[in-house]
Amino acid sequence: MSNAIQKRKKQFEMIAKTFFGLEEILAAELRAIGAKNIIKHNRALSFIGNSETMYKANYYLRTALRILKPISKFKIQTQKALYKNVKRYEWEKIFSLKDTFAIDTVVSSEYFKHSKFVALKVKDAIVDRFRDEFGERPNVDVDNPTVRISVHIFNDTCTISLDSSGDSLHKRGYRTAATTAPLNEALAAGMILLSGWDKNSEFIDGMCGSGTIPIEAALIALNIPPGYLKKTYGFMKWKDYDSDLWNEIKGEVESKTKLDFKIIASDKSPEAIEVAARNIKSAKLLKHIILEKKYFDEQSSEAGSGVIVMNPPYGERLKEDDLNQFYSEIGDTLKSNFTGFDAWLLSASKTAMKKVGLRTSKKLTLFNGALECKYHKYELYRGTKKRYGDDS
Ligand SMILES: C[S@@+](CC[C@H](N)C(=O)[O-])C[C@H]1O[C@@H](n2cnc3c(N)ncnc32)[C@H](O)[C@@H]1O
Repeated sequence: MSNAIQKRKKQFEMIAKTFFGLEEILAAELRAIGAKNIIKHNRALSFIGNSETMYKANYYLRTALRILKPISKFKIQTQKALYKNVKRYEWEKIFSLKDTFAIDTVVSSEYFKHSKFVALKVKDAIVDRFRDEFGERPNVDVDNPTVRISVHIFNDTCTISLDSSGDSLHKRGYRTAATTAPLNEALAAGMILLSGWDKNSEFIDGMCGSGTIPIEAALIALNIPPGYLKKTYGFMKWKDYDSDLWNEIKGEVESKTKLDFKIIASDKSPEAIEVAARNIKSAKLLKHIILEKKYFDEQSSEAGSGVIVMNPPYGERLKEDDLNQFYSEIGDTLKSNFTGFDAWLLSASKTAMKKVGLRTSKKLTLFNGALECKYHKYELYRGTKKRYGDDS
């Protein structure tokens, strides 16, 4: 077997990071690209694969934020032990003096309290190893390093990984403009995949803001990989980067060019519509998304079935009574204008969600940044009753 083929076949462990609540969805995405030994952790999954799996993970996974490749794991309880273990690693095999590096740290440990201090120790150890070997040291570049190193300490276990993604994967490259509270793209994709939408029936976001949800829905329905606009990934700067393999993977994609149903994005705000229009254009989806300036109660559908996914305002700017009234009106519109649809609402306001007044058929918890949100499903049958009082 040639060296190149052997290299391609070599299996190793990887970690895909995601948001709380999206682990199951990401596991399904991983299975679809052929990952093996998938194990669920908190906001992450570990799995086994080869470089093909790693490239595919970066290119295809809609709900992953980063794909890490662990290179060293050890037990430590002191800064000194951390330094010693990091310095022992053969960093010169990973990058050279002329390259730059950056360190990301996640620390949850009784032995190590400050992640910045951990980052500093790891940096010192790497720099000192190069100095001892070559009399010189590589530089740190936090924005655009050759190699991004991830340090994860949980209790007394330290895992050092190479970050194969570089920039976080949620940065698809289509967001050229943003409204006040845009959703993270990976979270929006996760919400759509959690909704169970069949990718073949009408899809509506009646409070689309900057357009993240309908854009992600169109990408999913058209089978366009989330990495289609992204030019660079961390692994492209690695010494073992296999550009032929990368091009083969990109060449395999079979996207659709036409949808036989509508994806509708609307919002009451002219500014939001302008921003969404710009983002839809840079996502190259102008043909596939109908964009309308409309209040939600003016929106309706005759399709008879489909899915609505929305994240209404949570009310930082609305008084509690107004917010409750607003959510009650959302419930009225869902009930009267969207018979046959499944509707999903994401909101950080538990009180307001209770005022929607429709029977909730699924209740999930997700996080929008640091905000804990409820993600609720309402099945809008003909004759769905508007219930008064709490739907808790
Ligand atoms: C939290 S933002 C949505 C953010 C969006 N998901 C994104 O990723 O950019 C809520 C949006 O609801 C819109 N909105 C508020 N009340 C509305 C109404 N009655 N009808 C339609 N849109 C409304 C706001 O203009 C705002 O753009």
